[in-house]
Amino acid sequence: MKLWGGRFTKEEDQLVHEFNESLSFDRRLYRQDIEGSIAHVTMLARQGIVTEEDRDAITGGLREILEEIEQGKLEFTKEYEDIHSFVEAKLTERIGEPGKRLHTGRSRNDQVALDMKLYCREQTRELSRLVRELEQVLLTVMEENLETYMPGFTHMQKAQPVTLAHHVGAYFEMFERDRSRLHDIAERMNYCPLGAGALAGTTYPLDRNYTAELLGFAGPTLNSMDSVSDRDYVIELLSALSTIAMHLSRFSEEIIIWNSNEYRFVEIDDAYSTGSSIMPQKKNPDIAELVRGKTGRVYGALVAILTTMKGIPLAYNKDMQEDKELTFDAIDTVKNCLTLFTGMISTMTFRKDVMEQSAKRGFTNATDAADYLVNHGVPFRDAHGIVGQLVLYCIDRGIALDDMSLSEFQAVSPVFEEDIYQAISMKTCVERRTTVGAPGPEAMKQAIQMCRERLEKWEQ
Ligand code: ARG
Repeated sequence: MKLWGGRFTKEEDQLVHEFNESLSFDRRLYRQDIEGSIAHVTMLARQGIVTEEDRDAITGGLREILEEIEQGKLEFTKEYEDIHSFVEAKLTERIGEPGKRLHTGRSRNDQVALDMKLYCREQTRELSRLVRELEQVLLTVMEENLETYMPGFTHMQKAQPVTLAHHVGAYFEMFERDRSRLHDIAERMNYCPLGAGALAGTTYPLDRNYTAELLGFAGPTLNSMDSVSDRDYVIELLSALSTIAMHLSRFSEEIIIWNSNEYRFVEIDDAYSTGSSIMPQKKNPDIAELVRGKTGRVYGALVAILTTMKGIPLAYNKDMQEDKELTFDAIDTVKNCLTLFTGMISTMTFRKDVMEQSAKRGFTNATDAADYLVNHGVPFRDAHGIVGQLVLYCIDRGIALDDMSLSEFQAVSPVFEEDIYQAISMKTCVERRTTVGAPGPEAMKQAIQMCRERLEKWEQ
């Protein structure tokens, strides 16, 4: 069933139909499409463009269609091109003449722009909620681990001691930026394209402000050609999703390392691990690996839409139909990743003793030993050299700095006194780092307080 029968003399080829159609995937926009149509006809009636009787017949019919779709009673049969023609055809089938008036002052170009925007706006909010749930779990881990010492790494080499709270807090910051990005995007996309018509507005006295208001937008978009051909909001959303996926992937990578037989910093819960079909001893971090792996397809969606859009002249062109499948896939993927990742973190066991032992065995307190000497008047360069010698001495013997006797310390530098042990204990090393953003528990407590307050913001 075609909407443009008048001008055409031949039936379209089957392959052409299949290549052109979008109903198989844009059917997921049925609710947005119907909501948009109800707002449109409400405005049309208020402006005297259709009668109140027609409006009532149309909204009644549309609500019925919505209900039947939701109950699975109305089937999306193949002969329709897209969700817009499907809904309109079903409406006219049911209510007759008034159904044919719904499309007055509207084009599928502004209609699809609206549907996609409504969908993206809703999903952006849902994504923000999922990111927030993950952040809540991270905050709990942070609160419980203010004094769980662990090695901080640079170049994958043990560097200086930090705490688990501090390490996880770094991810909190990333996800908080993600959430603020989603919030910015939602605001920027919150302008209604309906009423832009095919590209040049319409000659009917539409009240675009009213339609925008009915649909909860901040206002109408301001240029009709841009309105129908803008997909920046899709690109921005995919870009934000790519960044979320990148953050999830980095965190997954760390968890995979931490869960390895060599590290054993964490143990992923059985529910989030899988076994091997051949090796009985295995418990694999599949979920973390999949979250890391799925990043590729999210980036792929972003690059695909950027590439599709780059050569499109104003205004609407069918290329833009390509925005849907990849956007839907990226949204579904990131939502699933967020949900599973949050579940995995909240059920994971952190082996605090292993982490602390690892920090000790890795000379992460070497900088602090040098600082000790500096505080006793030794120039930093010399202190660096002295501690370097001590480290070499320990490596030869397979011990930690803390395991050396005082006379061993003093054999390298007489400046060392009994209080060196306290000065290089994990507790002291971390506690003395009290500047804003540092791992010291006092600094961290304040940071956590601020994180809690930030979580209250942008509740969408
Ligand atoms: N399925 C189309 C899309 O997703 C809807 C708009 C079609 N407009 C048109 N003039 N063919 O972009």
